[in-house]
Amino acid sequence: MNTQNRKRPLEGQRALVTGANTGIGAAVAEGLAAAGAKVLINYVSGRDKAEGLAGLIRAKDGEAIVFEADVSREDQVRAMFEAALDTWGSLDILVNNAGLQKDAPLVDMSLGDWEQVIRVNLTGQFLCAREAAKEFVRRGVQPGLSHSAGKIICMSSVHDTIPWAGHANYAASKGGVHMLMKTLAQELAMHKIRVNGIAPGAIKTPINVNAWATPEKEAQLLELIPYGRVGYSEDVAKAAVWLASDESDYVTGATLYVDGGMTLYPGFESGG
Ligand code: BGC
Repeated sequence: MNTQNRKRPLEGQRALVTGANTGIGAAVAEGLAAAGAKVLINYVSGRDKAEGLAGLIRAKDGEAIVFEADVSREDQVRAMFEAALDTWGSLDILVNNAGLQKDAPLVDMSLGDWEQVIRVNLTGQFLCAREAAKEFVRRGVQPGLSHSAGKIICMSSVHDTIPWAGHANYAASKGGVHMLMKTLAQELAMHKIRVNGIAPGAIKTPINVNAWATPEKEAQLLELIPYGRVGYSEDVAKAAVWLASDESDYVTGATLYVDGGMTLYPGFESGG
């Protein structure tokens, strides 16, 4: 009975994190492992980074496996979930994290870039959630492990709410994630499966390095963040651990904005 273990609230649970070799996904995988979960580190390219993270987790007596799969490909997603189930027998947590940006003004945006972003950021979350939910429903609640039959965490963005010129594909994909998450939460609650979202703001990762790489850029970015600092991946990882644990057992269908207040319309601090 480890559901009361506050230091390692995920002891014995098994988690699959997509896009986990870098950035927010890597921090989430590390955080879940530190909380006691075994983790599958999914990546699509950059095996060395995935292996490096697995090594780091193992060095701290954690358990990690790596698996290459493109989350937008049904066959590869199925193979990944089969691998997790073959290794561990079941699964308790899915973190739908994999995502990318292909930015361009609308008039210059190619159909290919539109489709790739929607496929990875939105269809990928659907494909992974479907496989995870099948296993969670099949297995049901395992007393002593968790109060829920399974937890799905969908990585969204402040841009599921804040329109973002020059990023129509990305903002549309995250708006889609928002309603996908809420709909799945409604549909799966009867099975004791919890589905929640995390909407990070500006977090220092490779995806937005251009927004904070120089002091001038960072100063410009800070004008959008009332709390006065750019976020770290660990800020998001802590929210993921909480949402995956029984500490949030009565929370489903919610999006936690981890954004230093970016969604508080800082332009209205003095205007309006
Ligand atoms: C994007 C980042 C951006 C942040 C805040 C995230 O979803 O991926 O590039 O810095 O939102 O605008």
